Amino acid sequence: MPASHFLPHIDQMAGYAPGEQPKDGVFIKLNTNENPYPPSPRVFEAIQNQLDARLRLYPDPMGTEFRNQAGQLFGLSADHFLPGNGSDDVLTILARSFVGPGDTMISATPSYILYKTLSDIQNAHLVHLPFEADWSLDPAKFAAEAARTGAKLAFLANPNSPSGTVLTPAQVADLARRLSCSLVVDEAYADFADAHCVDLVRDHPNVIITRTFSKGYGLAGLRLGYLVARPEVVAGLIKVKDSYNCDRLSLAGGTAALADQAYLAETRAKILATRARLTDSARSMGYQVPDSHANFIWCLGGPPATPTYEALKSQHILVRLMRYPGLEPAMRITVGTDAEIDRLLEVWRGLV
Ligand SMILES: Cc1ncc(COP(=O)(O)O)c(C=O)c1O
Repeated sequence: MPASHFLPHIDQMAGYAPGEQPKDGVFIKLNTNENPYPPSPRVFEAIQNQLDARLRLYPDPMGTEFRNQAGQLFGLSADHFLPGNGSDDVLTILARSFVGPGDTMISATPSYILYKTLSDIQNAHLVHLPFEADWSLDPAKFAAEAARTGAKLAFLANPNSPSGTVLTPAQVADLARRLSCSLVVDEAYADFADAHCVDLVRDHPNVIITRTFSKGYGLAGLRLGYLVARPEVVAGLIKVKDSYNCDRLSLAGGTAALADQAYLAETRAKILATRARLTDSARSMGYQVPDSHANFIWCLGGPPATPTYEALKSQHILVRLMRYPGLEPAMRITVGTDAEIDRLLEVWRGLV
């Protein structure tokens, strides 16, 4: 089909470029913030239990069991939750629901690159407001910029990627109060942080939290995420989602994963310990590493990132080279197993 059959704005947009997904086994893969540990054994069991003739039937369009389990975990009724095919699906539903052609969305920057893609697909404009030098966000400035540009939706990744930094729930609440549009708090990495903002949906009708199973729960290959918002907001979003946006296996696996919080705590503790060691090591090599509340670190300054990235890659260690306008390229490195990080440090120290 000739490209001219596309809508002009689709024709012109760059499209999202996911991190490299090389063939299994060749690389130590520290580039897309997957969990180095397998999911809870209960997930395998739950998926196994689904492998029968019921696969010929459509799944529950609302993921009722999943919503009940999530409700139990957070002490909210099930109608506060909406599952999706990864949190990217949920973010897409939000952009489609709130943002039309010519509208504006706003995000702090640097942050998750997908927000720009979502804005491009809607033929909207994404306004960027830089984080402050200490990775805080001035809520008055952000809200003023949102008001000035008439933003229809605001995105805040919290913890943020690539910086790994967080705003406290009180700071996020302050920001939400000042905004006249909805605020999407993308908590893809909240399982590695000390606090989260889910409780804010009780008192803030414009707060929408998004979560994923790809990071904390080690289920990036399953594709499951969800959002948390006031029931009236969820009811509106249900009109926009695909009827069957989650399959039987992912809903069963995700429900089982949520039910096994002890397993999450165990793998989380290992990742946090490795993160501390990786952070100290990177700093000792001359990098400035913001304190990370996620399962990755971001290495600013220090020896030039591009040749380091290339040299690591030549040794079969894959990290993510992040390029943002106005910033030097910098490496974002996923926290792997201790053995993976030992190997990374061995090669990396030989380069600087
Ligand atoms: C900030 C942020 N949000 C959302 C996602 C997407 O997660 P999912 O795998 O659930 O689509 C990512 C993935 O890297 C991310 O970094």
